[in-house]
Amino acid sequence: MQTTTGHVQEIVWGPEGLQAAWITCPPTSLPAPGQYLSAWSPEEPLAPLAATLFAGEILSDRFLALPPLPSSWQPGTQLALRGPLGHGFDPPETSRRIALAALGQSCRRLIPLALQMLERGSAVALFTDAWFPPLPAALEANPLNHLSEALPWADFLAVEVDRTTLSRLRKGLGLHPADRLPVPAQALYLADMPCAGLAACGACWTPARRGLLYACSDGPVFNLDDLEW
Ligand code: FES
Repeated sequence: MQTTTGHVQEIVWGPEGLQAAWITCPPTSLPAPGQYLSAWSPEEPLAPLAATLFAGEILSDRFLALPPLPSSWQPGTQLALRGPLGHGFDPPETSRRIALAALGQSCRRLIPLALQMLERGSAVALFTDAWFPPLPAALEANPLNHLSEALPWADFLAVEVDRTTLSRLRKGLGLHPADRLPVPAQALYLADMPCAGLAACGACWTPARRGLLYACSDGPVFNLDDLEW
C-alpha cells in the first residue's frame, strides 16, 4: 500500500463548528467517493492514532477531509497519507436516477458521489435532515422523511449509515421486514477504524448475512444486501 506525502492547505470551519481541511496530495492518493485515507503528521511521532480521512469534495490535486481531524493540524502541516483504502461506491454504469440518503448527523461523505453522478448526466436526489454545503442547482435536496417516495423513481440507492442508523433504514424506506429492495443499493458504513486494516483489531465489524464484515477492509462501502439490516 502506497504512502505518499500531502499537506494541509486550508482549515475550514463549518456551521457545525467542526473542522475540515483541504489537503493537497498526489493524484494517486485521491480517494474515490466512499474510500478513505489513513493520515498522520510526521511532526507528531507520538500521536497515538492515525486519522481516518473521508472526502467531502474531491478535486484534481486536493480533497476536502471531513471531521473529526486532529486539532493540531494547521495550514502547512505535512502529512503521511496511506491509501486510498477500502471499497468505494460502484453504481451500475446504466444508473441514471440516483437516490442518496444520509440517516445520521452528516451527509457530506455522499456529496462526492452526487457530484460524480451529476457529471455523468444522471439525475440525483439527496435525502437528509443534516446540514449540507451549497450544492449545484441540479442536485435536488429533500427531507429524510420523503425517502420512501424515491424508491419507485430511483434505479440506484446509496446510503450513509452507522450501526445505529442502519437499524432504522428499513423503516425509513417504508419496507416491511421481509421486503427486498427493488433497486441495487450500496451503504457507506461508518465505524471507528483505529487500525485501518493494518493490525486487524476487529473494531470496525458489522453484522452481515454471512457472519461478520469489516468496514476498513471489506467496506466501508458494502452492497446493502450483504449487511444484516
Ligand atoms: S479498523 Fe482494525 S480491523 Fe478494521
